Amino acid sequence: MTGAKILYGGDYNPEQWPRDVWEDDYAAFDLASIDTLTLNVFSWATVQPDEDTYDFAQLDEIVARAVAGGRGIVLATSTGALPPWLAHRHPEVERTDFQGRRHVYGQRHNACPSSPVYRRLSAELAGRIAERYAGTPGLVAWHVGNEYGGFDGGCWCDLCAAGFRDWLRERYGSLDRLNEAWNATFWSHTFSDWEQIVPPNMLSEHWRGPDHTAFQGITLDYRRFMSDAMLQNYRDEKARIREHSATTPVTTNFMGMFRPIDYHRWAGDLDFASWDNYPPGPREHARMALAHDLMRGLKDGAPFWVMEQTPTITASRDVNPVKRPGVLRLWSWQAVAHGADAVLYFQMRQSKGASEKYHGAVLDHAGRTDTRSFREIASLGEEFSGLGDAVLGARTPARVALLFDWDSWWTAEMTDGFNRHVKYPAVVLAYYRALWSAGAQVDVVPVTADLSRYDVVVAPLLHVLKGDVAERLEAVVQRGGSLLTTFWSGRADEDDNAYLMDAPGPLGRVLGVRVEETDSAEPGVVNPVTLRETGPDKLDQRGEDEPASVVESVATRSDASLVFEILVPEGAEVIGTYCAEFYAGTPAVTRNRPGGPDGGEAWYVATGLDDAGAEWVVRRVLDRHGLVGPYAAARDVELAVRSKDGVRFAFVLSHATEPVEVAAHASGVDLLTGRTVRQGETLVLNPTDVVLLREDPWEDPE
Ligand code: GLA
Ligand code: ZN
Repeated sequence: MTGAKILYGGDYNPEQWPRDVWEDDYAAFDLASIDTLTLNVFSWATVQPDEDTYDFAQLDEIVARAVAGGRGIVLATSTGALPPWLAHRHPEVERTDFQGRRHVYGQRHNACPSSPVYRRLSAELAGRIAERYAGTPGLVAWHVGNEYGGFDGGCWCDLCAAGFRDWLRERYGSLDRLNEAWNATFWSHTFSDWEQIVPPNMLSEHWRGPDHTAFQGITLDYRRFMSDAMLQNYRDEKARIREHSATTPVTTNFMGMFRPIDYHRWAGDLDFASWDNYPPGPREHARMALAHDLMRGLKDGAPFWVMEQTPTITASRDVNPVKRPGVLRLWSWQAVAHGADAVLYFQMRQSKGASEKYHGAVLDHAGRTDTRSFREIASLGEEFSGLGDAVLGARTPARVALLFDWDSWWTAEMTDGFNRHVKYPAVVLAYYRALWSAGAQVDVVPVTADLSRYDVVVAPLLHVLKGDVAERLEAVVQRGGSLLTTFWSGRADEDDNAYLMDAPGPLGRVLGVRVEETDSAEPGVVNPVTLRETGPDKLDQRGEDEPASVVESVATRSDASLVFEILVPEGAEVIGTYCAEFYAGTPAVTRNRPGGPDGGEAWYVATGLDDAGAEWVVRRVLDRHGLVGPYAAARDVELAVRSKDGVRFAFVLSHATEPVEVAAHASGVDLLTGRTVRQGETLVLNPTDVVLLREDPWEDPE
């Protein structure tokens, strides 16, 4: 193994090709500075050919070769895909889908999480693997299962129904409490026996699909249960690993903003977070940044891994374009900039057959090392080696928290009423993108996170307001911080029952507004919102009972769409107003300053502002705290900072499609080129350029 550095490598499946090819593989790994191999992700049928036989002969060879090659090893438990014999012998391990159809053998991510046979055999396999390979030189981590929740997001079989009932008994204790949580008197659903409860799917509460349910409370609980059931599978395996391997970290590969699993419920069981980065398009830099920050937020800011990304193309989309020159490098450094200490690929050599045979890989079918793609992979490997341990373990010094909440995601998207076109990740991304483009360093955290360390808390579409979240958000404002939230926030409690009060429920007090009506429109229908600077002087002079009013000139207009809440200010100032409809001239964006003009601020955005509008609001919120970054004026130039031992590492990444000139924000050394940079000097950033500035220590001018 090389010295401490950003780990580089990824999934390696040499069981798919002859032994002599392995030598070519390792020669190529050397050329590309590949130091870490993820082994055994999908080999259950080989390592356990039948229920009573384990056969590690081939895996022994694969592991031995990796050890001989001095590689770090991430060893997977192989439980992400069932072997045929298991499904044949125990058909109950197969899932029943959302339509209620019991599946037969096929695909992967296909086990029923409640099946006792699956639970027993997967845990047993994990234990056997740990027993055999614990202490293997270079073993870096255990990789349990694979992409939990892939393939339909769950199971709706009789075993899961029984598991759901147990989970509900545990959660509610009594049927009275359950009936109350589900508001069961609606449509005569009062349950008088636990056995009457069945999973919500197309045979029961649903129509049109997973987002159309008669009882949101039932579906919400089923999602929580399913997430927990799979978590239990992970825990079963981890417990068996721990019997043989006390300290080697255990993880599983997450998928960023992935709806079926509440990763916050899982976070405590991972020793470090890791995720698979497959952006849906070529211009998703803000979305990737958001996902990185969400993954980093799982472990309280600790570094995470990119467990997979493709070096070139994916295979699962209808259209799979190659990553353009420089893009692999740019996105890989972006991951590091946001806190990744490992950047790994799927996969090392292209599969010979089946659905991923054309998926990109470090080595193609011919094993060529003279391709553009391989050259870029190798030169990135060299850069990672050159950097050594400089940024390992470094943290993001964020003053801004963005709250991400699976309960709000699930409930907002399965709620009847209002507007089905509103998607939770899109709203979150709109606000994240505005923060990102302003150059703010952001922690994406659960609602349970300690908010006292942030100046600004952004809570887009916080539909479900649970526990003491309202009080803690209020506390942010009371101590002089800023809160920004949007339409549909504070509507429902933890059971997804509406608060019996004005929206935004318990947030109304700090926001100083109430929602009187909620209007909606088809996508494409715009109600322009005028956003104005308010005049603090004017506002200060207003009399006690004079309403807060808009003063000064028009600053900008935003094309608002989808949702238009009609507000009644109760202390808040009006910042933005609608221009159309019977509510033209009424507030669309407000700011409340309960502690006076010098105190904290609570902003409310009652409509779906376009990107420019969200940016306008977010920059005002950040500006008060001096958190608008130095490159905020340069489109698609990203600044991400990590710091360690008092040293700041500033990553400046150009996602722009044209060259951009910026003035360097600090003096330091670009660790990628060795070049000295002076504060204020012009940096010419070409598309895909990356500067990694180790900032000079800040000197007190006195
Ligand atoms: C996922 C899986 C891998 C592979 C890749 C292909 O991330 O974990 O096994 O299928 O997708 O993109
Ligand atoms: Zn099941």
